[in-house]
Amino acid sequence: MPAAWTPESSSRVVHADNLEVLRALDDASFTLIYLDPPFNTGRKQARQTTTSVRSDGGAGSVTGFKGQSYERIKGDLLRYDDRFDDYWEFLEPRLIEAWRLLADDGTLYLHLDYREAHYAKVLLDALFGRESFLNEIIWAYDYGAKSKNRWPTKHDTILVYVKDPARYYFDSTAVDREPYMAPGLVTAAKAELGKLPTDVWWHTIVSPTGREKTGYPTQKPEGVLRRIVQASSREGDWVLDFFAGSGTTGAVAASLGRRFVLVDRNSEAIEVMRERFAAVPGVEFV
Ligand SMILES: C[S@@+](CC[C@H](N)C(=O)[O-])C[C@H]1O[C@@H](n2cnc3c(N)ncnc32)[C@H](O)[C@@H]1O
Repeated sequence: MPAAWTPESSSRVVHADNLEVLRALDDASFTLIYLDPPFNTGRKQARQTTTSVRSDGGAGSVTGFKGQSYERIKGDLLRYDDRFDDYWEFLEPRLIEAWRLLADDGTLYLHLDYREAHYAKVLLDALFGRESFLNEIIWAYDYGAKSKNRWPTKHDTILVYVKDPARYYFDSTAVDREPYMAPGLVTAAKAELGKLPTDVWWHTIVSPTGREKTGYPTQKPEGVLRRIVQASSREGDWVLDFFAGSGTTGAVAASLGRRFVLVDRNSEAIEVMRERFAAVPGVEFV
């Protein structure tokens, strides 16, 4: 990242590892940070073997369901902690930078897989303070193969934390409204206006044949980002996404009159963004 970035710069896309870029940015520069980190990065793929501690039935041992000892269950949990540790080791320094970069009225949206969301929630409460936790957004979709032996998992979790619970910016009136599920139960005027989205967002994934599709495998839908950008930033504000991928955050930010810094280390992502922003005036590639 050139030291030259200031709030007077134009929007930019940076091809680099995000940690070094973040460290060169000034404190409190961004009103909104949206992060969609890769699932599993830095995480050990191979299952680690656990030493199962068998209960000998002696004092202090507790036998749980199916005869498993408490120690065994605790061992299993620690194994999962170990696996999450690797992921967290990668994410933690970047989240600490994100926190530093948030403006006093700023908001962080962290988009996670359902397998990681709960660990991340506990750790983020500890890191940022529980009082800074604003919402857990569930993005529900219904597409692709469905398992038959459990409830098909068709949602992502977006954890929302604010820098300062007394000062954060949030404008619900700026958010696109959605149709009532039972319009007959409200007045015609209300039905016409639509309702404010709740913390559960039904939204299709990026359609494989739609206008939005860039071909980047983990691309998120603009509709989901639109709500986030509309609610948690104003026109002219700076928006940061340092796991930018296909640049959805930047595309939405630009369409809503916000400025952006996007970072990705993958050259494919940079190529996709070059194409995506070709028609957006004044976007610099660094
Ligand atoms: C899940 S994708 C983001 C997709 C994006 N939200 C979109 O709508 O296209 C995560 C991205 O993070 C990038 N990434 C992973 N580790 C990185 C790092 N250390 N520095 C910069 N980019 C990184 C990957 O190259 C990938 O493009």
